[in-house]
Amino acid sequence: MNNIIEIQNLSKSYGTIKALDQVTLNVPKGSIYGYLGPNGAGKTTTMKVLVGLLRYFDGSVKIFGQEVKTDTVEVNKRIGFLPDAEMPKNDSIHRFLSLTAKMNGIKDRENRISELLNQLGLRKLRNRKIGNLSKGQKQRVGLVNALLNDPELLILDEPNNGLDPIARTRVLSLLKDLAKSGKTILLSSHIIGEVDKIATNLAIIHQGRIIEQGRRSELFERYLKHGKYIIAGKLDPGKVTTLEYVTSCELDSLGRYQVTTSGEINEEQLLLDLIQKFNSKIKYFSSAEFSLEDLFLESINGQLKKGDK
Ligand SMILES: Nc1ncnc2c1ncn2[C@@H]1O[C@H](COP(=O)(O)OP(=O)(O)OP(=O)(O)O)[C@@H](O)[C@H]1O
Ligand SMILES: [Mg+2]
Repeated sequence: MNNIIEIQNLSKSYGTIKALDQVTLNVPKGSIYGYLGPNGAGKTTTMKVLVGLLRYFDGSVKIFGQEVKTDTVEVNKRIGFLPDAEMPKNDSIHRFLSLTAKMNGIKDRENRISELLNQLGLRKLRNRKIGNLSKGQKQRVGLVNALLNDPELLILDEPNNGLDPIARTRVLSLLKDLAKSGKTILLSSHIIGEVDKIATNLAIIHQGRIIEQGRRSELFERYLKHGKYIIAGKLDPGKVTTLEYVTSCELDSLGRYQVTTSGEINEEQLLLDLIQKFNSKIKYFSSAEFSLEDLFLESINGQLKKGDK
C-alpha cells in the first residue's frame, strides 16, 4: 500500500457553510505531509473527518486501505491524533496520560509514558495539573498523548502551536526521526516556516479547496520561474498588483515592498513598468529567494486574483 491516506472528493458542510469542497488528497507512506492553509481553510475539519469525529460527509476517505466511515475503531487504533482542543484541566499530566494509555490497552504503560515525557522535556512536570500548564507545555502533553500507542500514522493539528524555539526544534527532530522509522505524518499549519524544514510533501488548502499539492521539490520546481523582489521607494501597491504578472505586493516590517511575480518575467521589465507606467520612485531594488512562505502566499493570492473570493 503506497498511500496511507486516500481522500477522494471529500465535501463537508456545517449547515450552509461549505468547509470542504471536493478535497482529494493522497498521503504516501513515510511522508511528512504539510497541510497548509490560512485560518478557516478547512484543515481541522479534514483531520476530524480522518479520525472519525465527523461522520457525515460526502466522498471517500480511506486510511490503511479501510473506509474510515465504517472501520473507525479499527483504523483509530493505528493513528495518533493531536487535536486543536482542550485537555481535562483538573488531571495531572501523569493521570491524564495513564488514563489514555489504559483506555487504549497500551502495554508497559509506565515505561512508555516516562520515555515520552523525557523525550519532550516534561519529566519534571509529570505531577502538575494540566490546567496550570503553559500553552507550549500543554501542546507537548498533547503530543505525548498522540504518541502513546506507537501509531503508524500521526495526525497533528498545528503541532507547533505555542512552542518556544527549543521545544519546536525538539518536536521537529522527533517527527523527522519518526518518519525515518517508517511512520507517516500529516501535520497542519498556518505558519509556514516550521513545516519548511521537515515536510516531504505539501498541500495548500484555501476556502475548503486544495489549490496546490505535491512533493515539496516538485512544487518548488513548478514555482522556479516565480520571482521575488525587494523594493524600497514610493510605490502604489494597488496599482502594482494590476500588472498581470505581479501576484503580490506587500509592505514588510522594514518598510520595503516585497513583490512576487509569476511567469518568465525579468527584473528589467518589472523596473520599467514600475517607473514608466506608475511613475514610481525607486530607491532600492533587489531580487530575493523565493521561499515556501512565498509559495503559500502566491498560491492564495493567485487564487484571489482569479476572482475567487
Ligand atoms: N462546528 C462548526 N460549525 C459551523 N462552522 C464550522 C464548524 N467548525 C468549523 N466551521 C467552519 O468551517 C470552516 C473551516 O474550519 P476549520 O476549523 O476546518 O479551519 P482551519 O483550517 O482548521 O482553521 P484554523 O487555522 O483557524 O484552525 C470555517 O469557515 C469555520 O468557521
Ligand atoms: Mg484548525
